[in-house]
Amino acid sequence: MDSFNNSVSKNSFALTTPLYYVNGLPHIGSAYTTMIADVIARWHRLCGDDVLLVTGTDEHGQKIQRTAEESGIAPQQHCDRIANSFNNLWQKLDIQHDRFSRTTAKNHEAIVKEFFQRVWEENDIYLDQQQGWYCVACEEFKEKRELLEDNYCPIHTNLKAEWRDEQNYFFRLSRYQNQLEEFYQSNPDFIQPETRCNEVLNFVKQGLQDFSISRINVSWGFPIPNDPNHTIYVWFDALLGYITALLEDDEEPTIENAVKKWYPFDLHLIGKDILRFHAVYWPAMLMSAKLPLPKQVFGHGFLTKDGQKMGKSLGNTLDPFTLLDKYGSDAVRYYFLKEIEFGKDGDFNEIRFVNILNADLANDLGNLLNRSLGMLNKYCDGILPPITGKDISKDNISKQIGEAIKYRIFEGYKLYKFNLICEDALALVRSCNKFIDESAPWSLYKKGEQKEVEKILYVVLESVRLSAFMLAPVIPNISNKIYHQLGYNFDFNHKNLGIKTYIDRGHFEWGILPLNQNLPKPSPVFAKLELPTTISNQ
Ligand code: MSP
Repeated sequence: MDSFNNSVSKNSFALTTPLYYVNGLPHIGSAYTTMIADVIARWHRLCGDDVLLVTGTDEHGQKIQRTAEESGIAPQQHCDRIANSFNNLWQKLDIQHDRFSRTTAKNHEAIVKEFFQRVWEENDIYLDQQQGWYCVACEEFKEKRELLEDNYCPIHTNLKAEWRDEQNYFFRLSRYQNQLEEFYQSNPDFIQPETRCNEVLNFVKQGLQDFSISRINVSWGFPIPNDPNHTIYVWFDALLGYITALLEDDEEPTIENAVKKWYPFDLHLIGKDILRFHAVYWPAMLMSAKLPLPKQVFGHGFLTKDGQKMGKSLGNTLDPFTLLDKYGSDAVRYYFLKEIEFGKDGDFNEIRFVNILNADLANDLGNLLNRSLGMLNKYCDGILPPITGKDISKDNISKQIGEAIKYRIFEGYKLYKFNLICEDALALVRSCNKFIDESAPWSLYKKGEQKEVEKILYVVLESVRLSAFMLAPVIPNISNKIYHQLGYNFDFNHKNLGIKTYIDRGHFEWGILPLNQNLPKPSPVFAKLELPTTISNQ
């Protein structure tokens, strides 16, 4: 298996989002996976790891061919247009991807051909007759029993599956049954979360069948080597886009070059609907091509809006561009990370969205900073007091939470428990709000107890700093504003500001706020949002 010598450095982390279909503009589902991937990538960078975040677009196949035909433009032109809108969305959402892999990129064809050849030489490809029901929107054959009445697709409920009876090339998946089962057994964390893993194991247990990897009558794809009447099945082509993404610019497009640094991937992040492709077909393809397998595949849940499945025909889609224009990227990122238990299905509701952001970011976090900086100005001339964490009693609740939080947050990011990370950071913030209310520094100041006032302000400002630091992968712009107001000139949007700055200076720990630092006048870090008057259905 390990015929390749992977020179991955010790702390490197390579992850992917799916390569999104370009049949339409990006939707909230694609934005969701990508923001999660970005949060994971940012956390690793904060910890000083070398990170490679791959995203991109899946541009071949019948679905894209038909969409382009319907809009009357050449397929490539259509793909360019939509790929561009994905890039625009990632910019608006503050996604820091390192590679944008397009399956119509020039170097991709060479990788697909080489891979096909390897699998062919293993005798894992053969020609046979394919009969069955095909959903063009899924780009997948369906079992008759999976389909709804009148052969409608269970996922694309407004589309009928089409009957196909044609010669196709097949991939000998059945040959990998035992090898796959052994692999799952010796890598129990490969498929996450656990419920999804069980689904896959049950599917595999029923017996794997070979699947077709070519199409006739679909011109928008790579021709099968030596048989140009066939084009390569879009999924066979698309999964390889992950490998193509690893090539450096202008590097000769060979598999050996692609896999020499970042391969194998640490994590493929996907939605639950495409789990089978990533957790069964892809590993088997890699086994056939004698390439190492990815370390983990995480299949997240589906988003609904106001409790209902989203869809164009239902008229209740949620346009990520509109949402970002209205509320900004930190707000959108925070809602989806905090409100949805990652792995489970989750819901978007605009009123809940506004209420959560106002409660957590405007009231609890933003006001706490504003309030405490206001007092620092009034009681300490705007200069951080000559206090260190050691001067604070070990009985202080916020200090206790602050000192314990590091382990919880590390664990949270490691296990992708983003909702708990947000809750932990907010628990620290809330303990400080309570501490201020109970200790009433304004009365202590009047009584001349300056040292006590300084200690209170130190506890609060240091806790706000630590919360902002721990949340920086989720809300980088708010964290930046908080850090600036605490006198730092760090930039959490700077990709390479990792290990040297943060770990060396102890930013993961509670109790490091520098003494005697002159702070600027406070200004709100997150403006309160208005409740929507009308709920828009874009
Ligand atoms: N092109 C394939 C992936 C190929 S990867 C080599 C594809 N593209 S997609 O654009 O249709 O879907 C991309 C992702 O969006 C999938 O992970 C899918 O689960 C996700 N979502 C689509 N609708 C969604 C929701 N309503 N909610 C959450 N994610 C959803 O599949």
